[in-house]
Amino acid sequence: MSHDLALFCLCWWCLTGVFGDSVSVMEGDSVTLYTDLTEIHEGEDILWKYGAENSLIAKIKKKNQTFLTFDVPDERFRDRLKLDDQTGSLTIMNITTEHAGVYRLDISGAKESTKTFNVSVYARLPVPVISSNSSQCSSSSSSSNCSLVCSAVNVSHVTLSWYKGNSLLSSISVSDLSISLSLPLEVEYQDKNTYSCVLNNPISNQTQHLDITHLCHTCAVPPDSLIVFISAGAAAGFLLIVTAVIGIFCICRKHKNSVQTHGKNKTDSALSKPTTRKLKSKKEHVYENFTKTR
Ligand SMILES: *[C@@H]1O[C@H](CO)[C@@H](O)[C@H](O)[C@H]1NC(C)=O
Ligand SMILES: *[C@@H]1O[C@H](CO)[C@@H](O)[C@H](O)[C@H]1NC(C)=O
Ligand SMILES: *[C@@H]1O[C@H](CO)[C@@H](O)[C@H](O)[C@H]1NC(C)=O
Ligand SMILES: *[C@@H]1O[C@H](CO)[C@@H](O)[C@H](O)[C@H]1NC(C)=O
Ligand SMILES: *[C@@H]1O[C@H](CO)[C@@H](O)[C@H](O)[C@H]1NC(C)=O
Ligand SMILES: *[C@@H]1O[C@H](CO)[C@@H](O)[C@H](O)[C@H]1NC(C)=O
Ligand SMILES: *[C@@H]1O[C@H](CO)[C@@H](O)[C@H](O)[C@H]1NC(C)=O
Repeated sequence: MSHDLALFCLCWWCLTGVFGDSVSVMEGDSVTLYTDLTEIHEGEDILWKYGAENSLIAKIKKKNQTFLTFDVPDERFRDRLKLDDQTGSLTIMNITTEHAGVYRLDISGAKESTKTFNVSVYARLPVPVISSNSSQCSSSSSSSNCSLVCSAVNVSHVTLSWYKGNSLLSSISVSDLSISLSLPLEVEYQDKNTYSCVLNNPISNQTQHLDITHLCHTCAVPPDSLIVFISAGAAAGFLLIVTAVIGIFCICRKHKNSVQTHGKNKTDSALSKPTTRKLKSKKEHVYENFTKTR
């Protein structure tokens, strides 16, 4: 007897939908919660309620042709609710994550019924980004491997995965929190397999295909050529300084010699002055040259 009762209760529980219909929808879409009525009968009343507080958001009284929608105190449903006056179905337009939750339908009249809808709203997914792990660039150039990382910024309720062809290599999941995810991958430069990084939530996915030749070479080549360029520049600069120093040294020696040779001459001071001026101008010239090349 009690067994039968339990079974009956279970069936009633299932039929009336204590768990409710699960509805998954993408942010920005519109969703319609159906009453399953083809028409509202005379004398039937329909109430739509939302959330843990059972806030009344829509009311239909067929007898006196009342079709009304209401907002909740924080106005999250402002201009988003639409009632079908034929069936009593409720449409939430341009849904956002704020509108997720349990919606309850109460129909009263000749026969009473209740139905709940558990609405989950998923954000639109960004396309994941594949980049070379730059911290590994310099060391990987010596081996035959390329270090990559696939990432997705500010996501929740998603899984990020690496696929080699159709087979899953690795994955990482995140639930509630809105965070940034990243997943590493090592491939050989000569690898001819197709790799892809997939970001998915329960209702959608976004895929980024890996281009090894492009990503791994932009990682390995430019830093090397840049270093060559910088060292060439440094070497040129160093040579210039050395040349300048040698030049100045030689001029000084020459000047000293000329002072010594003309030491006994009475016109000594008159001769040495232009030499000093000449030396000064030469110094400036060298300096100017140096700054230009830098
Ligand atoms: C419809 O019924 C409600 C209450 O049941 C009442 O408040 C409302 O004034 C009625 N409207 C009309 C147009 O009769
Ligand atoms: C949808 O809602 C978002 C957020 O409230 C708003 O920025 C956007 O303009 C709306 N789009 C449409 C088509 O109403
Ligand atoms: C609604 O659905 C979500 C996702 O499936 C689940 O986590 C949550 O517990 C459900 N809520 C209720 C009240 O059933
Ligand atoms: C880059 O590689 C290093 C060493 O393997 C690792 O510690 C680091 O977390 C990687 N960076 C990213 C963004 O995965
Ligand atoms: C992350 O996402 C939330 C909600 O989706 C948004 O409000 C926030 O501005 C985002 N932050 C960044 C850094 O994109
Ligand atoms: C290179 O990558 C392969 C997998 O693609 C891995 O098995 C191997 O150990 C890596 N070698 C080095 C030196 O990291
Ligand atoms: C991504 O979504 C498409 C349908 O939009 C589906 O065919 C495909 O299997 C999904 N891929 C993954 C890896 O979930």
